[in-house]
Amino acid sequence: MKKESNKLKENLVNSDFSVKGECAISLILTKLDIINIELSMILDRNVIQMKTGRMKSYESTCKKMKKKGLEKNFSNALEKINDLIGVRAICSYVDDIYRIAEILSEQKDVKIVKVKDYIRDPKSSGYRSLHIIMEIPIGFQGGTQWMKAELQLRTAAMDYWANLDHQLRYKRGRKEAEVIDEELRACSDIIGTLDRKMLEIRKKIDKI
Ligand code: GTP
Ligand code: MG
Repeated sequence: MKKESNKLKENLVNSDFSVKGECAISLILTKLDIINIELSMILDRNVIQMKTGRMKSYESTCKKMKKKGLEKNFSNALEKINDLIGVRAICSYVDDIYRIAEILSEQKDVKIVKVKDYIRDPKSSGYRSLHIIMEIPIGFQGGTQWMKAELQLRTAAMDYWANLDHQLRYKRGRKEAEVIDEELRACSDIIGTLDRKMLEIRKKIDKI
C-alpha cells in the first residue's frame, strides 16, 4: 500500500484536482476582470491594480498541515486547507475591496463559505486583508464539481506590508526577529491610517 503522503502528492500535483484548480483560478481571475470593467464604468477608474493566482505546492501544503497538526492525507487537505487554490487581488482603496466582495457574493455561481475580515480586525501580527473562502462550479468531463478557493483582497499598502512580513516569517524564533516583529506591527498601524486617509482624500476628489 502506498504511503498516505505519496497519495497526497499524487492528488495535488498533475492530477484531476490540479487541472480543475487551474480552471478555478482562471475563472476567478476572469470574474475579477468583469467586476473591474463593471465598476470602472460607474467609477471611472480601475479598482483592481493587479491580480495573481496559484495552486499551493505539495511542500507548502505539507508544511501547513504539519503546523495545523493534521494527518497528511488528501481529504484532510481538501477539507481543512482553504487556500489549496488561491487568488489575490490588489486594490487602490479599501471601499473598493468591499464593493468587489459584495458583487461576488451576489453571483449565483459563487457560494461564499466564509469571510475573514482582517481589515476590520487585523491579526495580532498586524496582517490586514479581506479573505473570501468561496466555492465555484467547474464543469469538467461531463460533471460539475464545486471547487473551494481563497480570494485575498488587499490594498497596495497592505500587500507591501504582507510581503515584508513574509520575509521575516522564515526567520521567526531568532532573537533579532522579536524587535522587527514590533516594528512591523507599528508599520501595520501606519498603513491602516494611510489607507483611511487616502480613501478620505479620494472621496473629496470625487466630489469636485
Ligand atoms: P494559516 O494562517 O496559513 O495557517 O491559515 P489559516 O487557516 O489560519 O487562515 P488565515 O486566514 O489565517 O491565513 C491564510 C493566508 O493568509 C496565509 O496562507 C497567508 O497567505 C495569509 N496570512 C495570514 N496571516 C498572515 C500574516 O501574519 N502575515 C502574512 N504575510 N500573511 C498572512
Ligand atoms: Mg492563520
